[in-house]
Amino acid sequence: MNPNQALWEKGDFTRIAASMRTSGEALVDRLGITNGLEVLDLGCGDGTTALPTARLGAIVLGVDIARNLVDAGNKRAADEGLENLRFQQGDACELTDLVDDRFELVVSVFGAMFAPRPFDVAKEMVRVTRPGGRIMMGNWIPGDPTLVAQILKISSAYSPPPPEGFVSPMTWGLVDDVVERFTAAGIPENSIACEPDTFVFEAPVSPTEYLTWFRDYYGPTMNAFEAAESNGRTDDLFAELDALFNAQNTSRTPNTTAIPATFLRVTVNV
Ligand SMILES: C[S@@+](CC[C@H](N)C(=O)[O-])C[C@H]1O[C@@H](n2cnc3c(N)ncnc32)[C@H](O)[C@@H]1O
Repeated sequence: MNPNQALWEKGDFTRIAASMRTSGEALVDRLGITNGLEVLDLGCGDGTTALPTARLGAIVLGVDIARNLVDAGNKRAADEGLENLRFQQGDACELTDLVDDRFELVVSVFGAMFAPRPFDVAKEMVRVTRPGGRIMMGNWIPGDPTLVAQILKISSAYSPPPPEGFVSPMTWGLVDDVVERFTAAGIPENSIACEPDTFVFEAPVSPTEYLTWFRDYYGPTMNAFEAAESNGRTDDLFAELDALFNAQNTSRTPNTTAIPATFLRVTVNV
């Protein structure tokens, strides 16, 4: 199986996505969604941004590489009776089922950044966006002191080195890389805007328990724990991540977690 697909079908990302709903909705509220707008949500997971976009009346297609998340998204859409929202499986590197110029808005929040061939991803996002349309990506930033970049940094110290030729998904959080990829796809540099934004992870459990959700359900963290276990270092990894989660928690209510994390919001006018 495609290792990228295997990574995201591992565990159950819906358990983490449940802690991302409020910020996902807030992000969608700032996108200027209008009734009937044709939207692609790429790397959509189980619909954290696709569902609120459809609730605002857009016609939304969610595409994700993980079959279990596509199924979970379709179930959530059916449960809400959202007939203007559909999920299907696809790879952001090669959107074979999607014709040119189909969408007015392509959204990808912490999604397409995880596909392995970033130049192909930029090309595909531009190809399926109608001229005059927009692309909006949310990308984690390498070396940032907030949660996700730090989880990946800590985890990498317990994991084997990546295979030769591997391009870190985190490079999508670097402005120069973003500009290089979209200009290679034919977009003028002055049509690309990047700015920092904040996403808050919220859970009705303590930060330590919230960490166990990542250990047990989030593919990349599950892999780090498997690697740590094979070296007898599970407790060290847990302790480092536990310190991080507790230090970053801003909730003052016991047994609840609220962790803000900085990301790069990229807007491309096509
Ligand atoms: C961190 S999750 C974010 C999901 C969703 N956008 C959200 O905000 O909840 C990353 C998502 O990207 C998807 N993904 C990773 N590589 C992909 C690829 N090559 N093509 C399409 N989706 C991909 C994963 O399956 C996963 O659902």
